[in-house]
Amino acid sequence: MSIVVTGATGSLGRLVVDELLRGGVPAGRIVALARDERKAAPLAALGVEVRLADYDRPETLEAAFGAGDRVLLISGSEIGRRVPQHTAVVEAAARAGVAQLA
Ligand SMILES: NC(=O)c1ccc[n+]([C@@H]2O[C@H](COP(=O)([O-])OP(=O)(O)OC[C@H]3O[C@@H](n4cnc5c(N)ncnc54)[C@H](OP(=O)(O)O)[C@@H]3O)[C@@H](O)[C@H]2O)c1
Repeated sequence: MSIVVTGATGSLGRLVVDELLRGGVPAGRIVALARDERKAAPLAALGVEVRLADYDRPETLEAAFGAGDRVLLISGSEIGRRVPQHTAVVEAAARAGVAQLA
């Protein structure tokens, strides 16, 4: 059971990951969702598990979540794309059986 932060390579996502670590959550319990492996390298260096997924490619979201995970969905910034993108994330999280989605 992990805490999954989407948009983890962005400004808010990185702050959230840092704050979780500072608050004592073990790095091994945190999953950073990112679409760019290179941008996620600094997160991986912290010991956080990086999973690659793109809101625009629902098939990549299938392995993003696990049953019982707690998920923070951080919105993308593409105006006009956000409803389908976020719908894809919410549906994948529901299928996986996450415990909480914020
Ligand atoms: N910063 C502010 O002051 C502020 C204020 C109000 C609202 N917001 C909103 O809050 C949200 C987060 O803000 P932020 O400053 O953290 O934005 P940000 O730095 O642009 O981060 C957005 C994150 O979403 C990821 N992302 C975008 N499209 C994606 C996609 N198709 N698939 C997977 N990941 C995707 C980005 O990945 P990449 O790193 O690969 O690009 C990045 O990690 C945004 O929606 C923004 O509009 C921000």
